[in-house]
Amino acid sequence: MGAAESARPGEVKIRLRDLHKAFGPNAVLSGVDLDMAAGTSTVIIGGSGTGKSVLLKHVIGLLRPDRGSVEVDGVTVEELAGEALTRFRRKFGMAFQEGALFDSMTVAENVAFPLTRIGSRSRAEIAARVRECLGLVKLEGVEGKMPSELSGGMRRRVGFARAIAHEPEILLFDEPTTGLDPVTKETIDELIIDLKNSLASTLVTISHDMGSVFRIADRVAMLYGGKIIAHETPADLRASRDPRVFEFLRRDLEMWGAARSG
Ligand SMILES: Nc1ncnc2c1ncn2[C@@H]1O[C@H](COP(=O)(O)OP(=O)(O)O)[C@@H](O)[C@H]1O
Ligand SMILES: [Mg+2]
Repeated sequence: MGAAESARPGEVKIRLRDLHKAFGPNAVLSGVDLDMAAGTSTVIIGGSGTGKSVLLKHVIGLLRPDRGSVEVDGVTVEELAGEALTRFRRKFGMAFQEGALFDSMTVAENVAFPLTRIGSRSRAEIAARVRECLGLVKLEGVEGKMPSELSGGMRRRVGFARAIAHEPEILLFDEPTTGLDPVTKETIDELIIDLKNSLASTLVTISHDMGSVFRIADRVAMLYGGKIIAHETPADLRASRDPRVFEFLRRDLEMWGAARSG
């Protein structure tokens, strides 16, 4: 595949090979192998601090592997620099739990930000796309507000609208619904399902919420001990006899039950 090409649906879009990453003595990733197909939705699960966010940061070239490689559309990410890296990052939309909005910009300016950077659309087209994206996250009519005037859940939805505004090929969501109320959570899950059904984007989501995982995933990958120990459909994961998977799902269900009744 040439550098300018994109993988077609079903072809490998993101390929991680023998990925290693340590911070000082803390070995976080120790041989991650994972292929993610174009137009599919992968959810990464695993205990807190196992390196899920670190893994995602390698995919966009925010972190460099100590060993191994990350390929996106056949291009080795850690070999990119300068303008090529900037262009490469335009393939992505990201929404992180802590993903802050620009406080000094209005909601509309925040959502428009990735569009104005690319610079191929007129002001009217940008305004229309901003309205469309805010509609998708059920936030009509807040274009002129400042982030500080919104609730936490609304801010998170604005961040989501910003991530999808430029119709990126790849969407990375790091715990997009953690801490949100159930209704907002459902809105975001439904959006992820819509994006997945459109087949245009490749989705990679980190999630703690097993309810979400089973709704939004084509494939679930579990990170454990620095490696991917399971990579399967949600149904197969549920039926897994691997005690590490089994234990993780059981504990998560218990926590979930406790949170709901408590
Ligand atoms: N930039 C960094 N410098 C040093 N240690 C880091 C850095 N980023 C992450 N870590 C460490 O890597 C481990 C995995 O972190 P992270 O990927 O955030 O876990 P999680 O699976 O909860 O997303 C943690 O021990 C964390 O402290
Ligand atoms: Mg994390």
